[in-house]
Amino acid sequence: MAFPVDVTTVQGDILSGLLKKLETTVFFQIGDDVQSFRKQLTQIIPLITTTPQAAERRAQVAKNKQEAAQQGRKADLLPIVGVTLAFSKFGLTKLGITDSTGDSPFEQGQLADAPSLADDVSNWLDVFKNGVHGVFIIAGDCQDNIDQQLTQIEGIFGVGTAQATINEVFRVTGNVRPDDQKGHEHFGFLDGISNPAVTDFDKTRFPGQESVPASVILFVEDETKPSWTVGGSFLAFRYLSQLVPEFNDFLKKNPIVLPGLSPEQGSEFLGARLVGRWKSGAPVDLAPLQDDPALGADPQRNNNFRYDIGDDFTSQDRCPFAAHVRKTNPRNDLEGMANPIPTTPQRIIRRGIPFGPEVSDAEAAQAKTLTDRGLLFRCYQSSISNGFRFIQTNWANNTGFPFGKPIPAPGFDAIIGQASDPTSRTLTGVNPQDQGTSLSLPTQWVVSKGGEYFFTPSTVALRDT
Ligand code: HEM
Repeated sequence: MAFPVDVTTVQGDILSGLLKKLETTVFFQIGDDVQSFRKQLTQIIPLITTTPQAAERRAQVAKNKQEAAQQGRKADLLPIVGVTLAFSKFGLTKLGITDSTGDSPFEQGQLADAPSLADDVSNWLDVFKNGVHGVFIIAGDCQDNIDQQLTQIEGIFGVGTAQATINEVFRVTGNVRPDDQKGHEHFGFLDGISNPAVTDFDKTRFPGQESVPASVILFVEDETKPSWTVGGSFLAFRYLSQLVPEFNDFLKKNPIVLPGLSPEQGSEFLGARLVGRWKSGAPVDLAPLQDDPALGADPQRNNNFRYDIGDDFTSQDRCPFAAHVRKTNPRNDLEGMANPIPTTPQRIIRRGIPFGPEVSDAEAAQAKTLTDRGLLFRCYQSSISNGFRFIQTNWANNTGFPFGKPIPAPGFDAIIGQASDPTSRTLTGVNPQDQGTSLSLPTQWVVSKGGEYFFTPSTVALRDT
């Protein structure tokens, strides 16, 4: 079947993802000279990376790596830079675009949504309390290339001159972690493994990878929606600090006790059961007793599982119900219910990057975070209500999810669950041999410092709207 939108106009970060070692995110407000801003916007369009450009770059880099491997040498570094541009509701309103997308969280902004997400707004950075208008995300292979691109963009908007049409209000750079931690988030777990494929766009699928209709990720033709939404996608951005030394200290002090496991192995096992994957990426569902790095690194196998509810709907022997990956993508878990609930509308495409330095010796010794680090989380979806927000509020924060499990309830997502009542931060099933006992979580190791909901328009909408 033909793809329902013209992919040449869809921004590259959404469907293909932009290659990156670093990424600078620049939040801005639009000034009063909206007319000039709109004119300048047309000059920015050619700098925005489209889907075919992103896909082409990926193919070039892969080919380059393959050739180098065949010739037994290190691959040359190809210069990479990619640009994404998105607007919040406040930004669209400033531009005079006031027709509604129909998605209430987007229309109201993330600050208004903070109570539903169970965010503690006193932790939020001021920038996210002031109705930011838009965001540029510049991904690249080195800071020089990113800065060059940014200078060009700033030049177009006259940044630094009296005629500037935008005011940069916050800038943050994320970086892929060094050496063997490449691809791992700050708690140490391999990330970015499980994203859905998009039907009729992704020509190949890894075994076990779900394929979702384009309309789950992108706006497609729909007479009830404004025409400028077609080919666009909502971007949910979250600035998530991670308390890594504190998390590691908790694992160290609460090892899972099982015959044959040393305390270190018990701590590693606890971490794996909280996430649902070992640090290598191997799913605990497929490797229930010990890490299997070859499995974790193998895209043909590392996503090929369904929660083993077959005969035993109540079992969390292999993977706790409340493990982060099970809470955020329950796969076949809800199919076993008397009234099965489809979960395809809840699929999102994640494109985050870690930020902040590695844990220092002093932080490790004191089990205390002294420098901010975490994840610049972002994900794409055609509905914030069904996507990010649903996963955070209805699943991760909800101790009763996945539904239909035996009492006591599955519990809290130890990685991203949020609750104003600390006594609700418990989960069951952590020790496979003692599943009824709850584990209490003393703190939230991921602290939301805020964020915003954006709309990532097609290049046609940017030109014509
Ligand atoms: C998967 C860590 C925030 C949704 C994962 C994985 C890790 C991870 C290690 C496994 C790798 C993979 O399957 O790609 C984290 C950390 C976070 C965070 C450390 C915060 C600092 C979030 C948020 C959401 C989310 C805010 C959405 C509300 C997901 C989803 C998956 C996932 C949907 C894929 C599950 C699957 O398909 O099996 N995360 N995550 N994560 N995470 Fe997170």
